[in-house]
This record gives sequence, structure tokens and C-alpha cells, in this order.
Amino acid sequence: MEHPTRKEEVIERYSRIFPKAVRVTYAPLVITKAQNARVWDIEGREYIDFLSDAAVQNVGHNNPRVVEAIKEQVERLIHFTFIYGFPVEPLLLAEKLAEIAPMEGVKVSLGMTGSDANDGAIKFARAYTGRRTVLSYLRSYYGSTYGAMSITGLDFEVRAKVGQLSDVHFIPYPNCYRCPFKKEPGKCRMECLEYLKEKFEGEVHADGVAVLLAEPIQGDAGMVVPPKDYFRKLKKILDEHSILLAVDEVQSGLGRTGKWFAIEHFGIEPDIVTLAKPLGGGLPISAIIGREEIMESLPPLGHAFTLSGNPVASRAALAVIEEIEEKKLLRRAEKFGKYAKKRLEKMREEHELIGDVRGLGLMLGVDLVKDRESRERAYEEARKIVWRAYELGLVLAFLQGNVLRIQPPLTIEKEVLEEGLNRLEKAIADVEEGKVPDHALSKVQGW
Ligand SMILES: Cc1ncc(COP(=O)(O)O)c(C=O)c1O
Repeated sequence: MEHPTRKEEVIERYSRIFPKAVRVTYAPLVITKAQNARVWDIEGREYIDFLSDAAVQNVGHNNPRVVEAIKEQVERLIHFTFIYGFPVEPLLLAEKLAEIAPMEGVKVSLGMTGSDANDGAIKFARAYTGRRTVLSYLRSYYGSTYGAMSITGLDFEVRAKVGQLSDVHFIPYPNCYRCPFKKEPGKCRMECLEYLKEKFEGEVHADGVAVLLAEPIQGDAGMVVPPKDYFRKLKKILDEHSILLAVDEVQSGLGRTGKWFAIEHFGIEPDIVTLAKPLGGGLPISAIIGREEIMESLPPLGHAFTLSGNPVASRAALAVIEEIEEKKLLRRAEKFGKYAKKRLEKMREEHELIGDVRGLGLMLGVDLVKDRESRERAYEEARKIVWRAYELGLVLAFLQGNVLRIQPPLTIEKEVLEEGLNRLEKAIADVEEGKVPDHALSKVQGW
């Protein structure tokens, strides 16, 4: 098999061997090298990665501590099954996760991806409560396995094609910029919660609901941050019916928002937490952290994978957590997040295209609109901006077709963050000034 040297060749060979179901692309990024917030392509071109590789590289690409831990572990023990044996590394990781968890008295299950963690959350919750119904949110994203896909609230053709888990109901997320009830923040009665109560009075038998799965900040919906007291009020309703709350911290967890877990911003304790993406510093590993009695509700092998608890991925995860602690990255995410948000808000004053800037820590979204009054989503402009950013050396993406995703590594250097924001502003200005031709639209797919 010949090793390609040109970008075009790689992309062409990709389209021949990989089905479209396994990918979605924004720009022709054939990355062959990476360090912290910078990546280099096969032709040696450098980019600033404002996505942290889809919210994976919280401690930066090829973080030296993570690299060292992986190297040391690989030479000693790559794998010995966690199902039959007792490798030490997953034990240390699980104990560490219990220590940083946003609730006490927990047990931990390890897996490979965010999707399997969310499937597990559904299984543990159903087994513990003896109930079947699962509540989820419109526009949520939980992953690609059967369970995760079934509770994903994005309108995916795939569900219609392949079927789904039964007993899943969707409710609207508290999106104050695009309120489904057309209310203004501060002037509403939290109709989103009233809607849930209404559901319990008719369509859904509350005492048959096992769990509500929630992203504390809805990531792929466009970095939607709920009002401060939403989760507190929600938890009260759930508690009245003994419904569990599982929070998906796959994208928002491990320091991204300035706290270990984004749910900590909202002053409540969840029953179950799922983690993945940044946990392994790029190696595939996920975790479900749940209250002990919930996690003891499935029989032996009720949620087990041959490669879970892999020692190399577990060592990498321990190094990621150590790096966040030692480099005080929670504080850094908060500080740099405030700085970046301020600059984005300043851009909003100067660029009509920007309707809203939102997010916590370094989990930020820029909602692009055709017109600030109607808040109509600016789909084409978003695609052109992402393309222009790529040309300027900035890795960027959009969500929901129009919300720019800004999630640089928590370790990004101040001057690199600054330079990335400069490139972003130039891309926005170029699109506003009509400098990006329409043929850019055919180059960017996105979702
Ligand atoms: C909030 C959230 N949950 C779950 C997932 C699925 O994770 P994975 O792709 O690792 O299966 C994602 C991935 O984008 C996500 O953003």
C-alpha cells in the first residue's frame, strides 16, 4: 500500500474506502503532526486548532506528560483484560474519577467512546429503577451506537432508516436565544419546564420514567447554556417522581468550562455522569460514574467490553487529569474563556453577522444570523467563514449549520489564542465584505 504525500490523493483515497456514514468534513485537513494548539498538514502548512480536535485535546495535542505516560505503559503492558484480570491502571483511574466526581459514593464503569458510555447510562438507569422510559432533549447529541442514537434529538435520517430504542421522549432544551416558546430571558415562566410538567399530565407516565439524559451545556446544538436555575428546578421535578438525572459531560467535562464538570456551575448533584472525548488525551476511553446503588444494578457482564479499562488508555487518562491539576487548567479555562468571550462580544459590536456569543470557559459558540431581529440562521455565511478560516490557517467548524464552535485546548498559549481570534475576525470580515466566493460553499460539508 503506497503512502500518500499529497493532500488531494489522501482525500480521493478516503472517498474510495470509507462510507459517508463514518465521517463529516469541514475542510481538507490532512493533519500529520500536532503540538498543543497547533497542527501541521501533510504539506507542512501550520494551523491553529480552535476545535481541540472536536473537544478531545483539552490538555493540548501531544501533551508531553500524556506522551510519556503512553510510551512508558506501552513498553510495559499494552493490554490485559480488565474483565478477567486486575490490571492496576484502570483501578487508579477509576479511583481518581471517583475523587473528582461531582457527587459522593460512586462506582465507575469504563468503556471506549462517549456513545457506549451513554448506552450504559440508559442501561444502568433502567435496571436500577425498573422503569423503561427515557427522557432526552431536542437537538441533543449523545452518539452513534443504538442507545445513544435513539436518544439523540438531532433530526437524523438514520433513526428513520434503522429503527430505535422504544420509550424515548424528547423535550425542548432551555435555549434563551432561540426560545422554542418565543419568550425573552428573565421575562418567562420557564415554559420549558412547564412543558415537562404538561407531558407528565398527559403523554408520559412520570412514574414509568427511568432517567433524563442532559448535556449541562448543549454542545452540538450550538453551545447552548441553560439559565442559572434551570437544573435546580428541573431536579426538583425529577425528584418528585424519583426520576434519575444523567449528565453527559462527554464534551463539557474535564475542565472545558472552567470546572471539572459543567454541571457544577448549576449547583446540583447528578445521579450519573458520562465522560469520554478528552479523557484519554486522544486515546479511546470513556467512563460512566454513578451512585453506587445504581451502578450495582446490572448483573455480571451486564455492561462489559473486552478492551475497556485498557492500561495504555487508562494511563493516558491519569496523565490528562494530573496535567489539569498541576497546570491549574480549570482556572486557566475560566480566565482564557472570559478573555476570548470578551473579544467575541467586541466582534459582535462590529459585525452584524454575529447574533449571539455564548458559552462557559473555553466552550464557546458564535451564533451567526442573517438579521439580528429575526435571528434567521446564516447557513451560507457560516460555511464561507469556516472555509476562509481554513485558508487563513485556523481550524474551525460550525454546529446546527450556523453556530461557530470555539473550543481551543485549555493549554493554548495566550498569543496563539489571540492570533486565532484575529484570524477568525478576518474570516468574518472577509465574508461580510463579499471576498469569499460562492464556490467555497461546495467545499464545506459540515452538519
Ligand atoms: C455531548 C456528546 N455526547 C456524546 C458524544 C459521542 O461521543 P463519541 O463520538 O465518543 O461516541 C458526543 C460526540 O460528539 C458529544 O458531543
